[in-house]
Amino acid sequence: MAVCCKPTTLRYIMFRPATTLWPTVSVSTRALSSQALLAKDVILAPTSSNQYLAAVNIKQIRGLADKQKVDENLEKYRKGNFETIPNPQELPHFRTLKPEEAEDMAATEKKDEVTKTGSKEMPPIGTYVLPHPIWTETQVNQVKVTHKEPEGLADRLAYRTVKLFRGGFDLFSGFSLGQRTERKWLNRICFLETVAGVPGMVAAMMRHMTSLRRMQRDQGWIHTLLEEAENERMHLLTALQLREPSLFFRLCVIGAQGVFVTLFGLSYAINAKFCHRFVGYLEEEAVKTYTKCLEDIDHGPMKHWQTQAAPEVAIRYWKMKPDSTMRDVILAIRADEDHHRLVNHSLASLKKDEFNPHKPGE
Ligand SMILES: [Fe+2]
Ligand SMILES: [Fe+2]
Repeated sequence: MAVCCKPTTLRYIMFRPATTLWPTVSVSTRALSSQALLAKDVILAPTSSNQYLAAVNIKQIRGLADKQKVDENLEKYRKGNFETIPNPQELPHFRTLKPEEAEDMAATEKKDEVTKTGSKEMPPIGTYVLPHPIWTETQVNQVKVTHKEPEGLADRLAYRTVKLFRGGFDLFSGFSLGQRTERKWLNRICFLETVAGVPGMVAAMMRHMTSLRRMQRDQGWIHTLLEEAENERMHLLTALQLREPSLFFRLCVIGAQGVFVTLFGLSYAINAKFCHRFVGYLEEEAVKTYTKCLEDIDHGPMKHWQTQAAPEVAIRYWKMKPDSTMRDVILAIRADEDHHRLVNHSLASLKKDEFNPHKPGE
């Protein structure tokens, strides 16, 4: 306890005979008069009958030594042994840095310098990522196309909207017309991933703002939603290693983002449950799309992805073997989409103030 902080004062208290303890206590108590506990137990009139009682209370509260301890300390003091008196260098607020800690501090200061001036070396894509699932070979091969039957009007509306979007996009992009090629696959993956990264980020922002506005905790949804948004963006960055988007493509992405962010944001403010169900059905379609892609890799026009090396970013992000192929990448992406399906369908089934059962990276 911070009764008397200076070591000299502490020694004074400890080595005084117990019968003369009161005057010292009286001064200290005045200094700590805002501490209700101390005030209650300590402020007693300094009569001979209650001096001992006051000293006992103070000893209990402050951990002061009794007479025997004082005598022992006095003996040690006379012999020049100060082991019971704290060494100021070892107190948390006063210790000096150890050599390795000083080095760490110097390194941190150096990093701050780099931040101020900008690092000359560009770190590779995926250096800064949130926790996310790392799939085993068994897990990526166990993914199945599944469907959750809609329950109620909102579910049916969400499902119909997704089906409408998918049909329209297949037609507009020409994906369902003619032979599927690598160019068609990459265009589709890149475009859809620019859209797929929106819901998680918008939903996370909406919940973040709600938490700030209502001054209530979020129940752990925000992190999962941010994780999903980043995961979709990593799908995009991986596909972009194989394709340079045209100007027309970029304009389409800008237009789609403007429309989708606005509509999804408004819908989330009105009915978050509907939005998570909508994303759940969107992810069901994503699992179907990547399953079709795997069929094209195994038996169709994309056979070269069985041996084509996986981009460096994919190996780093999914912690894949160095000799992984594009087929392995598509397997990992499909497992991610299956996970988003599960997460969003489960979030849609929860009340918005219920605890998120999905822990970070799981
Ligand atoms: Fe994705
Ligand atoms: Fe997804």
